[in-house]
Amino acid sequence: MGTLILYATKSGATSECADLLAQKIKCVADDLGKTVPDISSFETVIIGSGIRMGKIYKPVANFLHQHLDELLSKRVALYFCNAYPDTFQKAIEKNIPAELIQSAVCVTSFGGKPPFTNPANMGWLNTQALNDFYTALGNDA
Ligand SMILES: Cc1cc2nc3c(=O)[nH]c(=O)nc-3n(C[C@H](O)[C@H](O)[C@H](O)COP(=O)(O)O)c2cc1C
Repeated sequence: MGTLILYATKSGATSECADLLAQKIKCVADDLGKTVPDISSFETVIIGSGIRMGKIYKPVANFLHQHLDELLSKRVALYFCNAYPDTFQKAIEKNIPAELIQSAVCVTSFGGKPPFTNPANMGWLNTQALNDFYTALGNDA
């Protein structure tokens, strides 16, 4: 009855955020590009993806569609790493099933790495969004 983090990344931002969340919440983070774990025993599932060309990453898109009914029965929080805040809402509406957006405790962007850069630190991270995410998860995560 714990929390599991699932994510997909290409440039590393989403996995760096998964590590931060896993340290804070004290739970495991799995890369959906490498493994697709059984979520049945978890009460809360946090799912993270990067966004490129307006699309979330395939391992996450596939997981959301294949496990939609199961996810709708759990506490789900979604975070994304993307560089262009103005396009975020549209990307979410296009990529995420509407009923999952509705039932999730939080759907947010943590910011992302500007394309084709390799920042030395996490200066791109929207720390306010991260704190709001923890708040939305509450103490049950
Ligand atoms: C080829 C490419 C396309 C991108 N397309 C978008 C986009 O459509 N919207 C956006 O907000 N950010 C876009 N970005 C920025 C990424 O979302 C950002 O680098 C983020 O950190 C990606 O997550 P990841 O580091 O976990 O792979 C793009 C970056 C690259 C390299």
